Amino acid sequence: MNEYFVLLNGVKLPKIGYGTFRCTDGSDERIVRMALEAGYRMLDTAAFYENEEYIGKGIKESGVPREEIFLTSKVWKTDLGYEKTRESFYASLERLQTDYLDLFLIHWPKPDPECENWKELIAGSWKAMEELYEQGKVRAIGLSNFLPHHIDALMETAKVKPMVDQLELHVGYMQELAVQYCKNMGIQVQAWSPLGRTRVLQEAVVLKMAEKYGVTPAQFLLRFLLQQDICVIPKATSMERMRQNLELPMIEITAEDMYTLKCLPQLGWSGEHPDRERVPAQV
Ligand code: A2P
Repeated sequence: MNEYFVLLNGVKLPKIGYGTFRCTDGSDERIVRMALEAGYRMLDTAAFYENEEYIGKGIKESGVPREEIFLTSKVWKTDLGYEKTRESFYASLERLQTDYLDLFLIHWPKPDPECENWKELIAGSWKAMEELYEQGKVRAIGLSNFLPHHIDALMETAKVKPMVDQLELHVGYMQELAVQYCKNMGIQVQAWSPLGRTRVLQEAVVLKMAEKYGVTPAQFLLRFLLQQDICVIPKATSMERMRQNLELPMIEITAEDMYTLKCLPQLGWSGEHPDRERVPAQV
């Protein structure tokens, strides 16, 4: 398997990364060392996760050279706008004990669904990110949870096209329109929560198909996304699961099975949507 997706600017993004949201339990760098030991070379974090300090420590302690790791962080939605985005970027660098990021994303397009000046705010953030990119402080810049109308708004003032959009994507929540829009723009799609929580992992059709292809349900769910050229960042807390999610047997899911999975009713949605108040999680 080719291990990378190539972004619009030629930067190579590992196809499988380690998602760190809540992985450190707020205070633990061991899990990061473990992920690097398992073989992960892409780590996804965010200012909001409040774990950057532990990720920085974990990287240092692991002995893996910084340049071998693809490191992503994000500016939180309350820090949108030119100045705050710059400040957030440098604060992330400090906590991560590094002088550059591989990828920097705007975490959500709006501070809250009612916000009226979100277009101005994201234009300011993007300008700051373009400058950081031009100065070589970050190798690629992109978005997270941006739907087509948010990207259209950003493109009104953007000089540099976003290289990545990170969306909640998994069997049962495929956001087809947003994925297609990104693909048409050449924006690399990355899936957060690719395992869709326990409900998707235990869904009868997933269990049955995983058995048919001779892989675990988690491996099957990851293959389902990779087969659509979507980058995945699963999280797991044991070495066994970390390895299982990284060392995926090569399987080719048939078109019939892909359609079946893509046409399932909504399943395992987090309840988060950039234009709406959060609804209780659908576990
Ligand atoms: P744990 O953290 O206890 O290892 P997602 O990335 O979609 O949010 O899913 C993460 C959830 O999936 C976590 O609860 C994680 O459990 C679980 N998980 C991760 N990898 C596997 C696996 N290979 N098999 C079963 N469950 C897994």
